[in-house]
Amino acid sequence: MSEENNHIAPTKRDAERISMDKERLDNLIKRAQEVIDSDKIEVPPFWVNKYKKEAAKNWDLFYKRNTTKFFKDRHWTDREFEELATNSSDKQKFLLEIGCGVGNFVFPALAENPSLFIFACDFSKRAVEMVQSNEQYDESRCKAFVCDLTNDLLTDNITPNSLDLISALFVFSAIPPEKMEFALKNIYSVLKPGGRVLFRDYGIYDEAQIKFSKASDKRLDDNFYVRQDGTMSYFFSTEDLKSRFEAVGFSTIECQYVYRETTNRQKELRIDRIFAQAKFEKL
Ligand SMILES: C[S@@+](CC[C@H](N)C(=O)[O-])C[C@H]1O[C@@H](n2cnc3c(N)ncnc32)[C@H](O)[C@@H]1O
Repeated sequence: MSEENNHIAPTKRDAERISMDKERLDNLIKRAQEVIDSDKIEVPPFWVNKYKKEAAKNWDLFYKRNTTKFFKDRHWTDREFEELATNSSDKQKFLLEIGCGVGNFVFPALAENPSLFIFACDFSKRAVEMVQSNEQYDESRCKAFVCDLTNDLLTDNITPNSLDLISALFVFSAIPPEKMEFALKNIYSVLKPGGRVLFRDYGIYDEAQIKFSKASDKRLDDNFYVRQDGTMSYFFSTEDLKSRFEAVGFSTIECQYVYRETTNRQKELRIDRIFAQAKFEKL
């Protein structure tokens, strides 16, 4: 699996399922645990602090290198999250996409759901500028702004308790575990009671985690690693995820693993990706 795959989320073409053959899953977990348990070396604290301090800069450089060409458009979200579906006669729904990148979720979601208004934020200034300069960017349906979820209050840009939905797609994994609580309280503050967070991110024992552990010089903390380009990645168990959201007041509607099989044709390898997918509601 290439380093790039660490950044990649599923596309429409790949078969997904919420269960996996038990024997195959047991084998996968056993193999993953062995590799992860033997990866004891931690990156020195100086570097850990540097990666954390320079997270926004490193993502900004990521977008400078890759522009809009890296992530695929996320057309699978309507299928996975029925809350998104709106048609033109529906009352307008207000959604915030956190860690929006260059808009791979935002633009397909706007096109497919005519009554959706999307706030979109990211801490990479360059990514936000790419959203704003996209020809599909329409200020009557979208507002993109720069925000570090672990430091800046979302209420500076969004009315408290006003949103119907928040999408969190592969963004919490980029946040150091000790900073997640601030980000969770931050999103809680702008969601209305009954509003939901739609979540998908890397699951524990995913092949990308095994790959990080095998490299044995990438570990920053438990289930938390750094990529070659300085961006960071956390891997969630469903228990961990649930307890982080519930600790700040959310209730769990759904929280499960989603499996996706990919094939490396050149090496004739089957690769099992594991994602954590969930819905949380503000009471
Ligand atoms: C893997 S990308 C996902 C992009 C987008 N959600 C998607 O699904 O295509 C993670 C994004 O989260 C952003 N990000 C990471 N930490 C953040 C933070 N503390 N505040 C705001 N954005 C952050 C990064 O800049 C990056 O654009």
